[in-house]
Amino acid sequence: NNTFSRLYLRQNLIVLDEVSSTNDYLKELLSNIKPLAEATAIMASNQTHGRGQRDGIWLSSKDENLTFSFLLFPTNFPSAKSFSLNMMVCLGIQTTLKQYGLDACVKWPNDIYVGNKKLCGVLIENRLTGANIHTSIVGIGINVNQISFPESIAWKTTSLQLESSEMNKVDIKNLCFDLLMNILSIYESHLLMDTTALINKYNDQLFRKDVPAKFLVDGLEKVGIIQGVDEQGLLHVIVDDQLCKYDSKEIAFII
Ligand code: BTN
Repeated sequence: NNTFSRLYLRQNLIVLDEVSSTNDYLKELLSNIKPLAEATAIMASNQTHGRGQRDGIWLSSKDENLTFSFLLFPTNFPSAKSFSLNMMVCLGIQTTLKQYGLDACVKWPNDIYVGNKKLCGVLIENRLTGANIHTSIVGIGINVNQISFPESIAWKTTSLQLESSEMNKVDIKNLCFDLLMNILSIYESHLLMDTTALINKYNDQLFRKDVPAKFLVDGLEKVGIIQGVDEQGLLHVIVDDQLCKYDSKEIAFII
């Protein structure tokens, strides 16, 4: 009984050859007068100014990978719960990758990893009215058919093709629909629920949970054991026998 059928998504997907950034393109569309439907999506074969988290850039090889963004209009959704959107998106991606035969996990706060390598990144940009999120632009970049990466990043980067036993190339547009279907179904089913179930599912998929892992905290190397996240998206880690809670600016994994 999902609102977002494959047909609905097909009617609301715009496929473009080249844009600066699919997130920025959606922002421009939003500022036009014509209202947009929820789940309107932009997929581009190439981005000239792909953006990443923390003002980083997202480089993606033309035609080989998937870069797309879509719109959500959450109702009565407090911005204090914005991390829930991250969790829904990450879980939707993880579920989709499982359907493609990959055992991926979520590297907090919102990267998707296979083993010790990054496969996918998420950039969510929210617009608020008062204390509520009224529009969320969800951007996803996922390495799909690219099989070689520059030496400087090859040790920490992977793709669907490199990780799967399937020799055939992945159909990028179909993957886009599969991701949208899974993310939107999790979004619809969790929007009105309390966040505990979502947090538990997210924590179940967490990269390096319950094992000693190395981090940089305030420039110092620490070993800690991840316990999970909370509703605010803070990472709970036991460091030196103490439970510490970090936001993503305070702590970084050492891969
Ligand atoms: C990250 O890991 O730093 C997040 C990367 C997000 C990249 C995607 S690609 C589609 C969308 N458009 C952008 O400019 N960025 C996101």
